[in-house]
Amino acid sequence: MSAVTEQAVLDALRQIQDPDLHKDIVTLGFIKDLKIEGGDVSFRIVLTTPACPVKEQMEGSARGLVGSLPGVTSVNVTMDAEVPKGRGFSDKISIKGIRNIIAVSSGKGGVGKSTVAVNMAVSLALDGARVGLMDADVYGPNVPMMLGAGGAQPQVEEWTEFEDGKEFKVRKLIPIEAYDVKLMSMAILKPGDEPMIVRGPILHGLVKQFLSDVKWGELDYLIVDMPPGTGDVQLSLAQLVPVQGAVLVTTPQEVAVSDVRRALRMFETVNVPVLGVVENMSYFIAPDTGNRYDIFGEGGGKRLCEMYHVPSLGAVPLGMEVRAGGDSGVPVVIGQPDSPQALAFRKVAEEVARQVSIEAMKTELVVLAKSR
Ligand SMILES: Nc1ncnc2c1ncn2[C@@H]1O[C@H](COP(=O)(O)OP(=O)(O)O)[C@@H](O)[C@H]1O
Ligand SMILES: [Mg+2]
Repeated sequence: MSAVTEQAVLDALRQIQDPDLHKDIVTLGFIKDLKIEGGDVSFRIVLTTPACPVKEQMEGSARGLVGSLPGVTSVNVTMDAEVPKGRGFSDKISIKGIRNIIAVSSGKGGVGKSTVAVNMAVSLALDGARVGLMDADVYGPNVPMMLGAGGAQPQVEEWTEFEDGKEFKVRKLIPIEAYDVKLMSMAILKPGDEPMIVRGPILHGLVKQFLSDVKWGELDYLIVDMPPGTGDVQLSLAQLVPVQGAVLVTTPQEVAVSDVRRALRMFETVNVPVLGVVENMSYFIAPDTGNRYDIFGEGGGKRLCEMYHVPSLGAVPLGMEVRAGGDSGVPVVIGQPDSPQALAFRKVAEEVARQVSIEAMKTELVVLAKSR
């Protein structure tokens, strides 16, 4: 019987393409810890996100292709993920341990921006990613309530660090945890109902505190719920936070082209790629019959994406369970995981993760090309 070689296994795996990065998984360096013992082959496939929609398919192909090589008696595939680190953070506030910051933004309030941010964060955590959620909506910070952490107060941790023989004290806020998501909010820093009046320098300080004075730890994704609109506050926030990409939330009514165009222009100005558009409250599914009603007409979000060449990240139907989930502090992806709304949010999260991987790999491939 012929001996199984590393070369033969890798050649077999080369037939598997990553559908987004358009390269095979061996070239992309996804195969790790390849071990061959007689006819027993084991390896890990390390993807760029745990929320990969083709994970199972890839695992099946790998098992099949390697399993049919002559001499192979067993194949042990472990699926794993390491989220690549985002773009250069050097010129902005840097946060050790945070791989990608994703801003969730909208042309105006009330379109479900916070609802999308919350369900997206929880979905990514359910997929196995390490997730943080920063509620930076200075006008209406309501993320803690949506995660059932309305009254929570963060702990402060103090410790001593040494650098260059000098000793100094470090004080950090420990984020609140809900549904495996680490959370910090303007509402937590400043409880109460009065609206915040935020001016440039104060905002700068607040954002800095959020990023550097919070012990986020290791995060694959930090989701930032941005204030609505495209004014100065939004602009400086987008400038301050080293954002990997922005997710724009819109409703079919709001497919007022001018709003979205303004938001796209804003992110262009601060050099933040727009990962795509989520169309929220897109259609209605009657809870009693399951019938779908396109209340606002069909395909508005899609057309908009085509017009501006931005990816569509999916559509979330209107549903009472979404609002109820927000009010009760149990997000719909947890409370009613099989509802069409929850499934739509899970898909949106996968799509966002996919676009982040694509953006990150673009940067990485450019760096690779330059270093050659
Ligand atoms: N898909 C949806 N179906 C039903 N209600 C929704 C949906 N998305 C958001 N909502 C509700 O709409 C209201 C506004 O949402 P919110 O996320 O607070 O908007 P924003 O952050 O853009 O101001 C909330 O009461 C929320 O529960
Ligand atoms: Mg909000």
